[in-house]
Formats: sequence, structure tokens, C-alpha cells
Amino acid sequence: MIDQYNRDINYLRVSVTDRCNLRCKYCMPKEGLSQIGHNDILRYEEMLRVIRCGVRLGISKVRITGGEPLARRGVVDFISRLKSVPGLADISLTTNGVLLKQFAHDLFAAGMKRINISLDSLNKEKYASITRGGDLHAVLAGIREADRVGFMPIKINTVAIKGFNDDEILAFAGHTLDKPYQIRFIELMPLGDVGGDNNSNYLSNDVVMDIIRRAYPLEEVNGKKNKVDGPARLYRIAGGRGEIGFISPVSQHFCQACNRLRLTADGHLRACLLLDEEVDLKGPLRDGCSDRELEDLIGQAIKKKPWGHTMIKEERHLRKCVKEMATIGG
Ligand code: 5AD
Ligand code: SF4
Repeated sequence: MIDQYNRDINYLRVSVTDRCNLRCKYCMPKEGLSQIGHNDILRYEEMLRVIRCGVRLGISKVRITGGEPLARRGVVDFISRLKSVPGLADISLTTNGVLLKQFAHDLFAAGMKRINISLDSLNKEKYASITRGGDLHAVLAGIREADRVGFMPIKINTVAIKGFNDDEILAFAGHTLDKPYQIRFIELMPLGDVGGDNNSNYLSNDVVMDIIRRAYPLEEVNGKKNKVDGPARLYRIAGGRGEIGFISPVSQHFCQACNRLRLTADGHLRACLLLDEEVDLKGPLRDGCSDRELEDLIGQAIKKKPWGHTMIKEERHLRKCVKEMATIGG
């Protein structure tokens, strides 16, 4: 599936729920998040149908996201069924890790081998504060368990937040010396109701990289200039076991290489994280549309994929999405 700007769209992110057992300050408002009604959430069977049609059109990678995907009942069974979709080469999961200790073994047995875990602080109190109540120890135990059962690679997503975790950048980076994890620093994006705060707490990855470089010699992974791993630019501390990734959606947007589509928890296809225009699939699915019609709708969503977004830091452009990140699926 090639879009109008010659990008090969082969990656589908599937949000299985908009609910989350945490309420990160930059992601969700404290309360009053409009949650989608039970009947409006796509059923697993419906998601599988969309995914099968997508794969026929050229999707080869699927990432399961939320909200918190492990908070939806039946997700392990869904993943084993996903694993048996022919033509789907790569499946992965993004989780906040809170329930990972309990789920890691079953997820791995179901065929999930790659995992991304969100972790913004290594300090118990700060972690509880940014997530509004999360338990750091549960997440750390989840990461250890994922490592123990064989997940590879393990990627840790850390959103860099000015005045919050800029003092922990070296601690995060230092972890890659003896752990084979990939620590990825993600620039804070000004989305949703909390977008205004996110704008003022924004920290550019140039600054993050400078902080690390002052303490450790950073080398590009594979000696290539910025080995590309999706949108991450990858480095390693000389001699370290793990890698450090920089994902810079604000300072260096990667729209020109964007290969993704998103299926929202309420059954809409979204061609761009930052474009509120979506194609409804749930309605047609429940009205009994054919696979052919479904494929046409997926094609329409790809046609709507814009050239790029304007969340550019110099303009301090606050791009407000109507939907929160948790509904769209990150
Ligand atoms: N900016 C950057 N990353 C965000 N995430 C959620 N909201 C934002 C935002 N405004 C991240 C989470 C997690 C992933 C699912 O998306 O921290 O790593
Ligand atoms: Fe939940 Fe992830 Fe949003 Fe935090 S960032 S509230 S863990 S969906």
C-alpha cells in the first residue's frame, strides 16, 4: 500500500482499549476522561478481521497499544490468534508494565516476543507522581520478568520532561551499560487537554543527547549514521550492552518516513496521530460489510494520510487533537 507521498504503509497500531490503570499527567486529564462505552469498543473478533484485511493490503507489522492493553480482558488470547494470521511477520506490544510481571510468561507463550515498556522515572515518589499513583516496583519487577522469560528486545520508553526527569537522564542512559535494553527518549508532544502543559515542559532531544554526551562517549549503532529503527535514532555508550534511542517527533518530525496507520479502540482508522480525521470501520463492520468493502475503507484512510504535521517547536505550535493519546493508542 503506497500512499500519495510514496510511503509504504505497512505498520498498523491497534489500540485495544482506551482505559488505563495509570493516569500519566501528560497523557490523561486527572478525571473526566470520556471513556468509550463497552459496546463501542471494537471486539477482538472485529479487530482480527480488520487486521486480516490490512495484511492482505500490505500490513506486515502490528503493535498492540492502549490505554493499557494488559488491562483489557482476553488480550493474551487475542495475541495468540493474531499470531496465527498468515503474512503477519511482526507483532509487538506497548505497555506501562504495571501488570507485566503477571502477564509476561503467558504473553511470551502466546507468541509475543517484542515489548516496549513506558517508564518516566526511576524514583518511586516521582513515578507515583507522574502516573498519579503508579507503583514503580511493580514495573521494575515486570521488566525483570519480561527479561527472564525471554523478551528480546526490551525497549524502555521514557518521555523527557523538563523539570521532572531531566535530572534522571544519565541514570536512564547508564542502565544501558550493563543491561541489554534499549532506552528511548521521546519528546513530549502537545496533545489533548493536557497539551498546554506539555508545551511548556517540552525538552528537546538535542538537549538530552548533550547531557549524555557530556558524561559518556556515544557512538552510532552499527557505525552507520543514525541507524534507523522506526523513528528512533540509535546510539550506544561505548562498551555498553544496551542502546539509547532518540525519538524526536517535535524537533525532527519523521513524517516523510511514516509508515503507520492506527486502529482506535472505538473502531476508527486514523492515518495520522495528529489528524483528527478518521475513517469509521465499526459502523460498516457491524452493518455486515464484506471484506472487499473493508479493504476499500482501509484504502480510503491511507488516501487521507497527510504529508506531515506542524508540531514544530520553533512555532510553539500547539496542535490540539480532540482525542486523548490513550484513545488513539500512542
Ligand atoms: N508525548 C509523548 N509521548 C507520549 N505518550 C503518551 N502521551 C505522550 C505525549 N504527549 C507515550 C507514553 C508511552 C507511549 C504509549 O506514548 O509515555 O511511552
Ligand atoms: Fe496510561 Fe500510557 Fe497514558 Fe500513562 S501514558 S496514562 S500508562 S496510556
